[in-house]
Formats: sequence, structure tokens, C-alpha cells
Amino acid sequence: MADEQAQREDGGGVATAQDTLSVTDNRTGETYEVEISDGTVRAMDFRQIKVSDDDFGLMTYDPAFTNTASCRSSICYIDGEAGVLEYRGYPIDQLCEKSTYLEVAYLLIYGELPTQEQLDEWVFEITHHTFVHENIKKFVEGFRYDAHPMGMLLATVGALSTFYPDAKNIDDEGERHMAAVRMIAKMPTLAAFAYRHNLGLPYVYPDNDLSYPGNFLSMMFKMTEVKYEPDPRLAKALDVLWILHADHEQNCSTNAVRGVGSSEVDPYSAVAAGVAALYGPLHGGANEAVLRMLDRIGSAENIPDFLEGVKRREQRLMGFGHRVYKNFDPRAQIIKKHVDEVFEVTGRNPKLDIAVELEKRALDDDYFVERKLYANVDFYSGLIYEALNLPTDMFTVMFAIPRTSGWIAQWREMQMDEETKIARPRQIYMGARARDYTPIAERDRLTDKPVAETNLIDPTKG
Ligand code: CMC
Repeated sequence: MADEQAQREDGGGVATAQDTLSVTDNRTGETYEVEISDGTVRAMDFRQIKVSDDDFGLMTYDPAFTNTASCRSSICYIDGEAGVLEYRGYPIDQLCEKSTYLEVAYLLIYGELPTQEQLDEWVFEITHHTFVHENIKKFVEGFRYDAHPMGMLLATVGALSTFYPDAKNIDDEGERHMAAVRMIAKMPTLAAFAYRHNLGLPYVYPDNDLSYPGNFLSMMFKMTEVKYEPDPRLAKALDVLWILHADHEQNCSTNAVRGVGSSEVDPYSAVAAGVAALYGPLHGGANEAVLRMLDRIGSAENIPDFLEGVKRREQRLMGFGHRVYKNFDPRAQIIKKHVDEVFEVTGRNPKLDIAVELEKRALDDDYFVERKLYANVDFYSGLIYEALNLPTDMFTVMFAIPRTSGWIAQWREMQMDEETKIARPRQIYMGARARDYTPIAERDRLTDKPVAETNLIDPTKG
């Protein structure tokens, strides 16, 4: 509870009487003082507010964490109103212009930009851990030919923990470092194997002579040539996209990594939880959904009808809206600049015209303006991925590769934070209480099993 004149441990300075919230419980007439620190109050400070001694105490209710800070973090700063995104204090546009994805990964994880020597060593380590155990190849082969690559990635990242059991020593800084290196190094390899599996093509092993994005392009697209020569413009565009996707503070997948990681499981398993969360269409799956949406719209003349359908809530305008950005998403603006560069190499994607027109019309429409809905990072990234000849199923995978560095940075920070405890929210129980078990013969039919089409595979049909 408020200890107004005490020096606060969080570096926030001396708390004064003004740094408190006075709360009067109208049920009892009691008034309480709650400390305000960094613009927040601690939910636990409300627990003392009770109507009687045996009352559990007041809880806060915030089902989607829309107004709850779950941690203190120094990794990623977002000002949603001003459209600002910074990694460790460096503006995203400067990083996209001057840095590389691997340097940014180092910055996110270790907090500072590396010296030349540190960067060389980091790049060397990552380059030399890109190979995966041959058994991983075997179980990728075990997936159905049409398995979604995110499902394959989720399984293979989780499986990495079985290859590196020492990673469970999460207090060992050496192990933490190796897990970071291995995950960043192997994620593109796992992604490329999943892609080649879908196509029935032989897997391509990593090429240590190539840059991080160049090697990824090689593992994806190398055919009969002895050495794959990635187009530097495409490698650069990919690198920029990966910088943009590297971290985004406490989003759904990062929250999943922190939540699962708080059980002190190994980091591979925690990151697998992040991959699972990213898979969903409201998160990393949105770029895939944008392309499917553009396909459905088909041509610019169908845009008005489509937007009317969105306003009637029959569907969402995918790639629009954001929980945090309410004026513009700075990542969308940077991506838009790179779209043309990519199309110079690959040829123009006609869907770009639909996307541009769709964005323009939505920005002119009161429904979207009033709700502060703008194009987000996923609106244009899918077009670049499609120009690179990637199937839509691969788009979310392209998000997971760079987000790995953010997940690891956030996992490390959580793991080293003295305030970390196992994540365990409370609930408001709404169900029945203390019912006597009813013998089966005496039960009335009160519920019906939901009817769904079965997806069971009939082995006789192949
Ligand atoms: N199309 C149509 N209406 C929308 C959209 C949209 N894309 N997004 C929000 N709205 C409406 C929503 O119906 C609500 O209207 P009302 O107040 O009349 O009920 C209002 O705008 C506020 O929306 P919300 O659902 O409260 O916003 P949220 O913060 O819960 O959701 C979001 C954020 C990203 C899930 C949502 O905007 C959305 O579903 N967008 C489409 C999916 C998408 O592009 N996701 C990628 C996000 S960026 C990548 C990432 O970081 O994961």
C-alpha cells in the first residue's frame, strides 16, 4: 500500500502524496490509498479492499489484458498514438535503414548494439549453427504432404528441446546464450524444410557463405545450380521485413512465451508456445488472411461492396486495425516503401493495385476513421511474400523467423526479472456449485453434443 514518502525501488523517484489513488469502497465507506507508480497501480493493492474479514478481497477483471501491464520491460517501446516504435530506444526506421536483422537480434537480446568484434562473433556463431540434426529432417518427412508449415514449425521448434536437454538449465547464462543462437540460426532452416516438404522437393542444407537472409532464399529456392546466388535486393527487402517483425512488446505470442516460460520450462518449449499463438488469424496469420481477402475481392470494382460487407460486420478488413497503433503503424509505412523495390525484381503483383485502392477507400470512410483503423504491418507484407513466390501458408512462418529474436529477448528478460512468478491469472467463477453427482439413469438430456463434419482420414481412400 502507499508508503508515500518512501524512496521507490523502481527508480521512479520519491513517491509523494500526489502519487497515490484514493479509493472509497461505497459498500463499506472505507477509503484506501493505492500507490501510483509509472502510471500504474498494482492489482494486488486492491486485495485488501474487503466487505468482511472472510471476503477474498477485490480483484481486477481484464480478460484480454487490454489495460493491464504484465511486466516491466526495456526491450521495445511503442507509442501507439504517435506511431512510434523503438527497439532498445533506437527508432525502427533508423534500424531498417542502417542495421541488419542479425545486429537487431543482438540488440534486442543483449540490450546494446554490438561492437564490430561482437557482431562478427555473433554472426559467425549463428551461421555455424544453422544445420539441424538429421532426425529432424526425418520427422518433417513424416508430415502429410499438405501439412501447414506453421504446424510443422511449431512441432519442430518444440522438438528442439529434446535435442538440447541442457537448455532446461535456464539459470546458466551459457545455456541461455546457446539457446538464443540455436533458435535464431535454425528457425530459417526449419521453415525452409517445411516449405520444401510441401512441394515434395529435397531439402537444401544451409550455405555458410551466404548472409542470413541470402541463405534462407537459397534453402527455399535452390534447384540444380551448384551455388545459389540470392538477388541482393530481395535479400535486403527480406532483412528489412525481419527487422520490422523482430519484436512488438507484449503481443499475444510474446505473452504466450512469457506465460509458458514463467513455468521455468526450457526456452525451446516457451518459443514453441509463441509459434502456436502467432499461428492464429488475428495475430501472425493476418498477412495470409490479407492475401486471401484480396483474392476474394478479385478486382478494384468490387471494393465498395466488400467494404459494405465489413461495415455490416460480415467480415473484417484484414491487415487493418491494431490494439496499440491508433493513428498509423510505422511498420506498414516502411514496408510500403519496399514493395516497389521488390516488384522491380519480381514484376508487379496486380493485387497491389487492389490493396492500394482498398486502403485509400477505407481511409476515406467514416467507419474506419472513427474507429482509428489503419493499415497494419500485415497489409503489405503478404504482397512482398507473394512476389517472392511464397505460398500464403508460408506467410506466418515468415513472421515467426524474425519474431524468434524478440521472443528470446523477452524470455531472457522475464527469466532474469526478480518479480517473475509463474503466470497464474484469477477468474470470476460463473458456474454451478456443490451439486450432488447424478446417477446416469436419473439424468435429463440437458446438453447436446455439437455436430461437426469429421476430418478422420479413411486409410482405404489413400
Ligand atoms: N475490420 C473491421 N472492423 C474492425 C477491424 C477490422 N480489421 N478491426 C477493428 N474493427 C472494429 C471493431 O469491430 C470495433 O468496432 P465496434 O467498436 O463498432 O464494435 C472497433 O473497430 C474496435 O476494434 P476491436 O476489435 O476492439 O480492436 P482490438 O484492439 O480488440 O483488435 C485487432 C485489434 C488487430 C485484433 C483487430 O483490429 C483485427 O481483427 N484486425 C484484423 C486482423 C489483423 O490485421 N491483425 C494483425 C494485427 S498486426 C500484427 C500483429 O501485431 O499481430
